[in-house]
Amino acid sequence: MPSIRIENVGKIYEDADGNNVTALNNINLTINDGEFVSIVGPSGCGKSTLLEIVAGLQPATSGNVYLDEKPITGPGRDIGVVFQSAALFPWRTVRKNMAYGMEIAKVPKEEQKKRIDKYLDLMGLKDFADKYPSQLSGGMRQRAGIARTLIMNPKVTLMDEPFSAVDHLTRSTLQEELIRIHQTEKKTVLFVTHDISEAVLLSDRVILLTPRPGRIQEEYVIKTKQPRSRTDDEIIKISAQIIADISRGAEFKEAEYFI
Ligand SMILES: Nc1ncnc2c1ncn2[C@@H]1O[C@H](COP(=O)(O)OP(=O)(O)OP(=O)(O)O)[C@@H](O)[C@H]1O
Ligand SMILES: [Mg+2]
Repeated sequence: MPSIRIENVGKIYEDADGNNVTALNNINLTINDGEFVSIVGPSGCGKSTLLEIVAGLQPATSGNVYLDEKPITGPGRDIGVVFQSAALFPWRTVRKNMAYGMEIAKVPKEEQKKRIDKYLDLMGLKDFADKYPSQLSGGMRQRAGIARTLIMNPKVTLMDEPFSAVDHLTRSTLQEELIRIHQTEKKTVLFVTHDISEAVLLSDRVILLTPRPGRIQEEYVIKTKQPRSRTDDEIIKISAQIIADISRGAEFKEAEYFI
């Protein structure tokens, strides 16, 4: 059953000089319930824009997006977002940042504490629970931001390069944890990354966008069962294929002048 349905979505921004910038062009994509889908593509091809539209944070210029066949008209509790840079409340400690959504949702205090302690442990933030964002490193802030979203247990999680500022070892731990959460709780995940092998390692499906204006260039289905390894044959093969196809993407950019 489709969880997220993106139908003919296009996005045109106006830049500072009043010129139109087409960020996305006619995107059609269905993400099934419980599926893990990654979006990859060159910088500026519209990945963050697409995520923000699915999150209901900005409108598409054309087309529609549906969650469980209901149009998405604004942000809601069913969709959790981890942004490209963690937007923590500077006046709240790590613990209080993690509590924020649960306070709004009126989760009982005992349950809040249980979940916060679990995620502090998971994210390696136990010693920083009572620190403010300004006292953390960039990677720690990012981990606190990830925890703040996952702790709410949303139906659909949208993640925009969530691990980019995290060290290698923590990144592997977080990738494994994300897969574990995805597998045990059958959550739908839409994930944006620049790291092709990360996309292939984590996803059921990887979508490659062309250079701006982003259109779907190619789609890859990864069948190897989790847990996967970067050295699995299929992972190596598909990663290499995507990298080759990205360099072919320049042709799509040139082709646009002939449309
Ligand atoms: N608010 C805005 N106003 C005008 N143009 C914008 C705005 N936001 C994004 N753009 C433009 O839209 C295009 C897509 O931007 P977007 O941030 O979605 O790309 P991206 O694929 O996420 O890039 P990156 O990989 O670097 O994060 C870019 O050309 C960008 O300059
Ligand atoms: Mg982006």
